[in-house]
Amino acid sequence: MTGGERGPLAAFRDYEPEVGRFEQDVLAGLAGAAKSLPCKYFYDRRGSQLFERICTLDAYYPTRTEMGILRAHVPAIARRIGPDAHIIEYGSGSAAKARILLAALERPAAYVAIDMARDHLLAATTALAREFPEVEIAAYCADYSAPLEIPAPRRRRLARRVGFFPGSTIGNLTPEEAKAFLVGVRRQVGVGGGLLIGVDLKKDTRLLDLAYNDPDGVTAAFNFNILVRINRELAGTFDLARFAHYAFYSAEHGRVEMHLVSLTDQDVRVAGTRFAFRAGETIHTENSYKYGIDEFQALAGTADFVEGTVWTDEHRLFGLHHFVAA
Ligand code: AVJ
Repeated sequence: MTGGERGPLAAFRDYEPEVGRFEQDVLAGLAGAAKSLPCKYFYDRRGSQLFERICTLDAYYPTRTEMGILRAHVPAIARRIGPDAHIIEYGSGSAAKARILLAALERPAAYVAIDMARDHLLAATTALAREFPEVEIAAYCADYSAPLEIPAPRRRRLARRVGFFPGSTIGNLTPEEAKAFLVGVRRQVGVGGGLLIGVDLKKDTRLLDLAYNDPDGVTAAFNFNILVRINRELAGTFDLARFAHYAFYSAEHGRVEMHLVSLTDQDVRVAGTRFAFRAGETIHTENSYKYGIDEFQALAGTADFVEGTVWTDEHRLFGLHHFVAA
C-alpha cells in the first residue's frame, strides 16, 4: 500500500488493487462445460462509459428510481441513521448518492469512499472534501470484496459506522456470496453499526426483460464489450457478428441472466487456446439477482443485520434498505 498526495482529503490509501487475472479467468471461464466470464471484466474504459449510458436509459429504471427514493426520503433515512455517522461506501463511483446523504445527515463525522478506479475516486472525494470541510473524507483505492481495515476518524473516534452500498450491485453476487459480503460488512461496522443498501425488487418479468434489452442496444454493446476486450487484450478471435446478446429473467433463480449466444458452430482462439462453440451455446456473462423486501431482510438477518426499514418508489420497483448490526 502507498499513501499519496491527499490535498483536502483526510486520507488517501492506495492498495494498488489487481483488477484480477484477466487471461487466467477468461481461459478458465471458457474451458468449463457451461461457459462463463466474470462480470467484473465489463468495466474497462469503454465498458464503464457504456454502463453510465445504461444508467440514463428510459428502459433501465434502477438508477433513477434509487436516486428518486433517496432524494424523497433522505430526511427520514438520515434520522434512521442518526447523528455522528462514519459512512463507508463500497464502490463509490461519482459519489453522487453520498453527496445527498452527507448533506442530510446530522453532524456526519467521516466518509470513506472505496473504489478501484483511482482517478475517478480521487476526483469525486476531493470535490466532496471541499463541499463538506467539517467531515473527514478519505479515499481508499481498493477492492472492497476483500477484507479491509478502516481506522476510526481522527477527530471523532467513536463515530458509529454505517456501510453504504447503493446501486443494487449486490445483485451480481449469488445469495451465498451476498451473505458472505454482508458478514464482512457486519464485521467492519461493529455492533450497533448500520447498513444502507439499494436492492432491486422482484417485479413484472416484462419490465426486467426490457431493462436488460433496451431498444437502443446499449446493454447489448455493454455485453459485447467483453468480447471486444478479449480480442484486444488476449489476442482473441471472436467474430462479433456470430454472437448475439441474450438477457432474460429467470423466475426459478430470481435473477436476470445475461449471455452471449453463439449463432453458429465455430472455433474461437484466445491467447493461443482454441475453444469450440456449438450453435446456440452461450457464454454466461452476468447475473443480476432481484429480491422481495422480506426476502432481502431475511438474507440480511443471516448476517446479523436486523431492524430492517425500507423505502421504495410508488411502483415498488426498487428498495433502499436500512439495517442495524446486532
Ligand atoms: C451494476 C450490477 C447493478 O445488474 O443491473 C446493467 C449491471 N448489467 N445492465 C445490473 C448491468 C446490465 C447492473 N449492476
